[in-house]
Amino acid sequence: MNPVKVGLLGLGTVGCGTVSVLARNGDEIARRAGRGITITRAAARDLSRPRGCDTGGIALTDDAMAVVDDPQVEVVVELIGGDTLARELVLRAIDNGKHVVTANKALIAKHGNELFARAREKGVMVAFEAAVAGGIPVIKALREGLAGNRIEWLAGIINGTGNFILTEMRDKGRDFADVLAEAQQLGYAEADPTFDVEGIDAAHKLTILAAIAFGIPLRFEHVYTEGISRITREDVAYAGELGYRIKHLGVARLTPAGVELRVHPTLIPERRLIANVDGVMNAVLIKGDAVGPTLYYGAGAGAEATASAVVADLVDVVRALTSDPENRVPHLAFQHDALADLPILPIEETRSACYLRLRAEDRPGVLAEITRILGEQEISIEAVIQKEPPDSGTPATVILLTQRVVERAMNTAIARIEALPSISGSVTRIRVETLKD
Ligand code: HSE
Repeated sequence: MNPVKVGLLGLGTVGCGTVSVLARNGDEIARRAGRGITITRAAARDLSRPRGCDTGGIALTDDAMAVVDDPQVEVVVELIGGDTLARELVLRAIDNGKHVVTANKALIAKHGNELFARAREKGVMVAFEAAVAGGIPVIKALREGLAGNRIEWLAGIINGTGNFILTEMRDKGRDFADVLAEAQQLGYAEADPTFDVEGIDAAHKLTILAAIAFGIPLRFEHVYTEGISRITREDVAYAGELGYRIKHLGVARLTPAGVELRVHPTLIPERRLIANVDGVMNAVLIKGDAVGPTLYYGAGAGAEATASAVVADLVDVVRALTSDPENRVPHLAFQHDALADLPILPIEETRSACYLRLRAEDRPGVLAEITRILGEQEISIEAVIQKEPPDSGTPATVILLTQRVVERAMNTAIARIEALPSISGSVTRIRVETLKD
């Protein structure tokens, strides 16, 4: 049988990785898919740029629409990123009756509901394993491997750049900007690196994971997102003293009132496996009611790691070419007419334990004032550390660890603590997840 002809949009880091993996492992991939898979055409913005892969045998163009409109192309692989031109190209590919494979998390998180509806009308597949956690087959695991479970919650380190930065800061005391520049050079960071450090990239991925986990539409606009730029070396060290690591987590939890969807720096007990996921590596911990907790770990970014997921999707598409569209695995794991429009809880209604760091006058009664405010909000204290001030007369640093509490009560308590005359500056709050139940 003739090889399946693929049109590639984008010859950047992941595009080149895909060309290389398909070339190197072509025979084995064909043995798995039942047919060869060949990239016949590829579009790149700047054709004069030197590439890190061998594009011999591929017809190159700077006109992405020409690839999408090429009648020979059966599957379009979209690796240009962004959600404007990419959306137009993917919609056009779908309208042209072509299957689509994409690594574009922003596109799926923001426009997936529209794209999947159009793909259903046209009877084509839109596959997006590479959009979440790079090379880790977590979409496949959640959508198929865990299909017998009611998913209770998931928590993931789903941005390699952010994890790389936090790890280097902790282990080597390096500066934030210096580590970010290295991540950019290595091809991990987004075109706009604030997407990595402010949690937007992780929010895109969390949106996708939550939809598949709970059978809800994609709701990117409701994700609470907080970045890592406020985390100090002191917080990392104090967390360590308390037996915790700080990680930038995406958390999705099903509660009786609705779904919690939040991305923020988080203290995790250091004995949890996921607390020890370092560098650019990603991990997603998923709790199913039948299976219990399961952990998926691997490279979350990088050329060939992400290409691994792109090529796996290509194999899936090729295997499904002859199947009836009604009998394919649904895009969001649940049949489209069985998606539940559960409410996404505002952050004030979510529940977390908290780490609080504050600067207080070092005199009798100050700690009592703080604990009285917490008590009035029914916030129970788990641990307290007070650091001696460097000089007498300067404020002491106090770190408190609380039990799980609704965010609204914690906001009230923090505002009241900050208003005390004995407190200088603002209170730093970092949420804590035990990831146990
Ligand atoms: N910028 C992303 C990361 C790339 O650092 O994880 C993979 O999505």
